[in-house]
Amino acid sequence: MATRLATVRTSANPQVTSDASWWRDAVVYQVYLRSFADGNGDGIGDLGGLRSRLPYLSWLGVDALWINPHYPSGGADGGYDITDYRAVDPDYGDVADLEALVDDARRLGLRVVLDVVPNHTSDRHPWFQAALADPDAPEAARYHFAPPSAEPPNNWQSLFGGPAWSRTPDGRWYLHLFAPEQPDLNWGDPAVAADFERTLRFWLDRGVSGFRVDVAYGLFKDAGLRDNPGAYSPTLFGHGPEQAMTWNQPEVHDVWRRWRSICDEYPDTMLVGEVCLADLEQVALYSRPDEMHQSFSFRLLKSPWSAESFADGVRTALDAFGAVGAPVSWVLGNHDKDRQVSRFGGGALGTARARAAALLVLALPGSAYLYAGDELGLPQAEVPDEAKLDPIFFRSGGARAGRDGCRVPMPWNADRGVGFSADDAATPWLPIPADWDQYAVSRQARDGGSVLTLYRRALALRDAHPALGSGDAAVSRRGDVLTVRCTAADGSVVRCVVNMGSETALVRTRGTVLLASTTGVRRSAGSVALPADTAIWLAEA
Ligand code: NOJ
Ligand code: CA
Repeated sequence: MATRLATVRTSANPQVTSDASWWRDAVVYQVYLRSFADGNGDGIGDLGGLRSRLPYLSWLGVDALWINPHYPSGGADGGYDITDYRAVDPDYGDVADLEALVDDARRLGLRVVLDVVPNHTSDRHPWFQAALADPDAPEAARYHFAPPSAEPPNNWQSLFGGPAWSRTPDGRWYLHLFAPEQPDLNWGDPAVAADFERTLRFWLDRGVSGFRVDVAYGLFKDAGLRDNPGAYSPTLFGHGPEQAMTWNQPEVHDVWRRWRSICDEYPDTMLVGEVCLADLEQVALYSRPDEMHQSFSFRLLKSPWSAESFADGVRTALDAFGAVGAPVSWVLGNHDKDRQVSRFGGGALGTARARAAALLVLALPGSAYLYAGDELGLPQAEVPDEAKLDPIFFRSGGARAGRDGCRVPMPWNADRGVGFSADDAATPWLPIPADWDQYAVSRQARDGGSVLTLYRRALALRDAHPALGSGDAAVSRRGDVLTVRCTAADGSVVRCVVNMGSETALVRTRGTVLLASTTGVRRSAGSVALPADTAIWLAEA
């Protein structure tokens, strides 16, 4: 509880205070910068817009924000194809705007975490351009090139579809595990590591609180570039032995040890890794005490709505991360996955389930990553094919819908244009569905039964109650009812009970209902009747 007290904000003193382990139980709000708030009316979210909405994030009650890539980019993969790692894309502002954002956030008690993308650059990055112009340039050694030949060097696939090798204009092959516009870096070249260290320090010197590390299970490849034993499947929990040659090479852990030592020079900073491996024990190894502070647990992001699957996901994550002494970083939504409401069945059903899932995740010990718009219960938006931008859609020939539908701009006001930009602004960069005024912040903030109000209450309770978000958790399941019993260091207990079945369940308790995900929960002496697709927090006496 000591760490939590240090971060509690009061209106008299909302500033961030020093706390080396703030990240262990933080709620981190993921800002998709391009879609959050447009400050200058060009239809694109930007740093000015985000600054103007910081009071909302403070009001909501999160601890930090992670911003998706803000760097100049070739625009091929939502900013994950970077041309300059020590600058800000002019669409979003400039470095001074980012510094101002960090300062403003700090005054409101919020920390700012940036995204860093070390596995690949943009094909428009000056290094790749130099390598294209001259195969003998030193920059060519910073990528994976192979001499011209009829067939690509191996059977590796791009995660976005098609082969992972493309040709240069002079016939060489180059490796890209994502889009062709994202050539993979060769981390065997010391110049690559040195440049990323400069990048980390550049932003840490500007006061950021750390980094979300993209594709942290990548970077190094099998030294012999041998064929993978099996094919990649986007439906798996993550990569496994079938992709053993491309991911999770042992050398990568040395990079995280080095990055950790750099962060250790900057108080209160942290690294959170994106490690998409099926085996959570392998994922947790990236967060051993001298590596990244935490790595995402994506299991619930891919779990169907079933108590068995959720119980397994929670237990496996608690065990795996517990074994290395790291907190679990829970994730229910992000910019790569269909929105929860739609994943869980859509409409009223999907919304009820998303509300219940929110209470589960916010009760669990560890940090929680909350994707912008999930607190509004946004569904996956229908983006017309002609407006789509995601390379996954194009490289799969339209077979995979792509990720645009979870990246649509935020509705702020239940008014014309929904307040993402000013009234007379340019068209938003992705179309906002006509009926999204119903989800607007302005409307939900006034509605005691809204998804937004539920999140706000849950976050306030989590901040106040020692058994929520930290301590020990025991998971049990009886049929479709999942229970997590959270015990704080002071002995206080909160039980989160989620009914994931289709019948009302009777929960025996003498405790107090702290919060329920719907209004239909009936209390009688010694029990609570919990409707289908509902969760409650019970403070046990
Ligand atoms: C993971 C990011 O979350 C995703 O959006 C991106 O396309 C890939 N990494 C490639 O950088
Ligand atoms: Ca703008």
